[in-house]
Amino acid sequence: MKVKEALTWAIRQLDLDFIAKPKIDALLLLSHTLGKKKEWISAHPGESLSQEALKSFKDAVEKRRNGKPLHYILGCKEFMGLKFEVNESVLIPRFETEDLVGYLIERYARRAYTFADIGTGSGAIGVSLAYHLPLSHIYATDISEEALVVARKNAKNIGVDERIKFLKGDLLEPLKDVIDRIDVVIANLPYVKVEDYEELPLDVRREPEQALLSSERGIGVYKTLLLQMKTYGISTAYIECTPAEIGELTAFIFSLGFGHRVIKDSGGAERFMVIGVEI
Ligand SMILES: C[S@@+](CC[C@H](N)C(=O)[O-])C[C@H]1O[C@@H](n2cnc3c(N)ncnc32)[C@H](O)[C@@H]1O
Repeated sequence: MKVKEALTWAIRQLDLDFIAKPKIDALLLLSHTLGKKKEWISAHPGESLSQEALKSFKDAVEKRRNGKPLHYILGCKEFMGLKFEVNESVLIPRFETEDLVGYLIERYARRAYTFADIGTGSGAIGVSLAYHLPLSHIYATDISEEALVVARKNAKNIGVDERIKFLKGDLLEPLKDVIDRIDVVIANLPYVKVEDYEELPLDVRREPEQALLSSERGIGVYKTLLLQMKTYGISTAYIECTPAEIGELTAFIFSLGFGHRVIKDSGGAERFMVIGVEI
């Protein structure tokens, strides 16, 4: 089979299963299978696939048809211009989160700050901050040891492992002994309501439940973080949540005596909050 025929076949297969972007997925899967750039695929429609390559490509398409997220099959996801390895233990970093990281990079470039990335997952936020803010130091926590294995690997691959320390535990708890050093907390924690979980697309439900689901109508994990911030005297935090949760979170933030400001994402949605005093 030739490159063009393989692509046409894959697009049809993916389309049959209502995969949202069959053309892009087919192109990326073929590019991954052949170890060639997308541009090479487009420029070589008449190139023949070996039997071995065709089998691997068909296997990859089958996995995608069965709902495996594209980036788990590819094994990586680009975030803030960096290549992050991903697997079933971590959330695939989302492009919306890049807006928050971009904001922080601009705001905190002046001097050396120490950040805490809470619920680091693949390390997307913490590792990107370490890379783009070379004066910074980062602490990153996660409740999942499997996620921390991935995050540590990404920090090493990207060459920032000397300025980022990973700790396992509940939110700020593992940072008790270094809490006075932390200038800014950043958290993209689970915020999907239990009642909304079953409505999520199949491939999103293949990401770790622990990375998505939160109690108390989606704000339970953030409530615990806010309570810990109060206990430990943290005065600046940035969080990512859904626009729908901002109202209820705001009431809780006020009840603890913190101020807050909402930051919109690049699509104009109210997605981020600064809690406390912005430095
Ligand atoms: C939505 S994912 C975000 C991952 C990453 N920050 C990103 O933006 O791609 C949430 C992460 O929080 C972690 N997590 C959930 N509950 C936690 C807790 N109580 N303490 C620490 N981490 C937690 C999950 O394991 C998961 O890696």
